[in-house]
Amino acid sequence: MKKVITYGSFDLFHEGHYRLLQRAKALGDYLIVGVTTESYDESRGKQNVVDPIMERIEHVKQTGFVDEVIIEDHVGQKIEDIQRYGIDIFTVGSDWTGVFDYLKAYCQVVYLERTKGISSTMLREKNYGIVRMGVIGTGRIAHRFIPEARYVSGSNVESVYHPKLEKARAYAEKFELNHCYDDLDGFLDSVDAVYIASPHETHGEYIKKALLQKKHVLCEKPMFLAKEEAESLFSLAKQEGCVLMEGIKTAYCPGFVQLLGIVRSGVIGEVRDVEACFTKLEKPDSRELNDPIYGGSFTELASYPLLAVVKILGKECRDIRFEVFRNEKGIDVYTKAYLRYENSLATVKVGLGVKSEGQLLVSGTRGYILAEAPWWKTRTFETRFEDNSLNEKYFSKYLGDGLRYELSNFVSTINGTNKKSGRLPGEESIWIAERMERFLNEEKRQWNRK
Ligand code: CTP
Repeated sequence: MKKVITYGSFDLFHEGHYRLLQRAKALGDYLIVGVTTESYDESRGKQNVVDPIMERIEHVKQTGFVDEVIIEDHVGQKIEDIQRYGIDIFTVGSDWTGVFDYLKAYCQVVYLERTKGISSTMLREKNYGIVRMGVIGTGRIAHRFIPEARYVSGSNVESVYHPKLEKARAYAEKFELNHCYDDLDGFLDSVDAVYIASPHETHGEYIKKALLQKKHVLCEKPMFLAKEEAESLFSLAKQEGCVLMEGIKTAYCPGFVQLLGIVRSGVIGEVRDVEACFTKLEKPDSRELNDPIYGGSFTELASYPLLAVVKILGKECRDIRFEVFRNEKGIDVYTKAYLRYENSLATVKVGLGVKSEGQLLVSGTRGYILAEAPWWKTRTFETRFEDNSLNEKYFSKYLGDGLRYELSNFVSTINGTNKKSGRLPGEESIWIAERMERFLNEEKRQWNRK
């Protein structure tokens, strides 16, 4: 009996898939199809797969060509499968020509001609349209956004807004965008959704204007510095039927999501302590170290560690206390926040003028998790125990600058196809905003900060 194997995502099952499976079956007597898991697709840079895996498997089975379906979830699996199932022929579409030649050491490799004019990517775009995106602000993070956005299908960045037209124009030229604006209404008219990367204190105003024109909003962190503003704009988003999401990229990246899953599984017991640190040295003349109202390490960096705290310990924080080192202008260059919960503690440590180890440590009654620096781009972490033979290391991909994860989540939420909703719910952004407000108020009270 001649055994054939092929692999794919088979998302939004289409004629190209059908014809591929038909010809694959005709190559032998027994056809095995490996269907990719969502996390494997994500790790190889394929964002926005729409159909859940069980549906994709069902569609593959319904063709009647397939004798056995298996799951593909890691790199290197193809060789394992070929050996395990005694495969004679590996086949795949001609878009992969050459890529799988290394399998010739194990079996015959056949590239079947791809059916022209159809793909899952095309169907996703046809079914859900393209979300036309615009960028507000042209600073450092905005420069990272466009190269990342190119990895997310279903969206296209078309325009940029900056109150100074020359800045908007320079950005549009650099990234080959169609339009640049210094007129906010004109800009908002030209897009379906905006990515806000302007200074912190301008977020609220831009968010409000965008929502009132029924535009979806993805906003850089910290999205808000006050609870009331956060609450009122989340309720405005609901009222206008728009998506409003905070761009704390860690919340959406696969490694951090896996870490949270392990914490929740109880492997390390009851969590009693979370310690999260993020430091980033800035030049003395930087905006972060000179803006007397909104500058400083807490507003600039604490979104990440606060995210870890609220994700792991929840919102029922009883108390928060700060210890601060300030520069000669009264701006915090190193801050520790101590949070107290009913049964646990947390420490948030941030610095623009002090460098420390950027790790996340989650301590429980049975063991602990250590996520190495930079934990906010979670790639590796370890569960550790008294009996260290039980320690286990976890590895995850974190592609590029990581903004692609939040953007793909944003786009699929707009399209109503998000299978990973709840990665950063509004209440958690509101909770973070409240801690920022507490910090700023205390600084005002004690140090006459403006
Ligand atoms: N395939 C094909 N003809 C097409 C589309 C896909 O023969 N028009 C083949 C691929 O070459 C692969 C299999 O079908 O062997 C599964 O492909 P998959 O990547 O799931 O489908 P695509 O439509 O290419 O998906 P995407 O657009 O998301 O890359």
